[in-house]
Amino acid sequence: MAEEKKRSRVTTAVIRDMKRRGEKIAALTAYDYPTARLLDQSGIDVLLVGDSLGMVVLGYASTLPVTMEEMIHPTKAVCRGVERAMVIADMPFMAYQVSADSALLNAGRFLKETDAQAIKLEGGREWAEVIRRMTSAGIPVMGHLGLTPQSVQQFGGFKVQGRGDEAARRIFEDARIVQEAGAFCVVLEAVPAALAGEITGTLGIPTIGIGAGVGCDGQILVTNDMLGAFERFTPRFVKQYATLSVPMREAFAQYSREVKSGVFPGKEHSF
Ligand code: KIV
Repeated sequence: MAEEKKRSRVTTAVIRDMKRRGEKIAALTAYDYPTARLLDQSGIDVLLVGDSLGMVVLGYASTLPVTMEEMIHPTKAVCRGVERAMVIADMPFMAYQVSADSALLNAGRFLKETDAQAIKLEGGREWAEVIRRMTSAGIPVMGHLGLTPQSVQQFGGFKVQGRGDEAARRIFEDARIVQEAGAFCVVLEAVPAALAGEITGTLGIPTIGIGAGVGCDGQILVTNDMLGAFERFTPRFVKQYATLSVPMREAFAQYSREVKSGVFPGKEHSF
């Protein structure tokens, strides 16, 4: 019975309930089937197929080049690896900015073509109508405020947002607007901890922080960052729980040496 309860699916209602009960929400990103399985088995509540995939998997300099097609395939793979966690798919740059109609169609693709339960989009008041249309159509929406990486060119780099009264007030208002538009939760990225704590205390929907302090209802990190598997750049807010790039590189180098020297394959690997 306890096991059955543990594996029951995380839904938008479960996420809302967790906030009500004061239970923290553990979220990480996922881009492939085997990692999704491990994350799910480890009790992670929410798997975000983030457009961070563009940087940490596809090697782009930013998330801007990522396309819908590049998001759909990994989202399908992640969904195949999950029994319990909620899977949320990230709307890539230009998948929702062009028109409310194309935004709705693209968000709908994630629910029709994959088993994702919700989508995420970046930005506040400017997308309220889009969020309203998606939620009216039955598509749960996760908001994303603060440092929204798709606006990196406008911000002039990956910088903390919401510093100063005016900037903080704007993020606070945006959080309320996104909630009123129907979002079921909101990511707060790289905003001062005090501001994130205030927003969390005011909103009825959960906040998921990344570089936003301990006061949020949940936390998310890019999995490749927390595993130490992405070496190009590590934001200050990342805690590295492993340094996987080191044993991976050692294993690859040993394999290379053994192939070249004839040590591998041994008799036990041959027929
Ligand atoms: O794309 C992503 O992975 C994200 C998270 C870091 C919130 O947006």
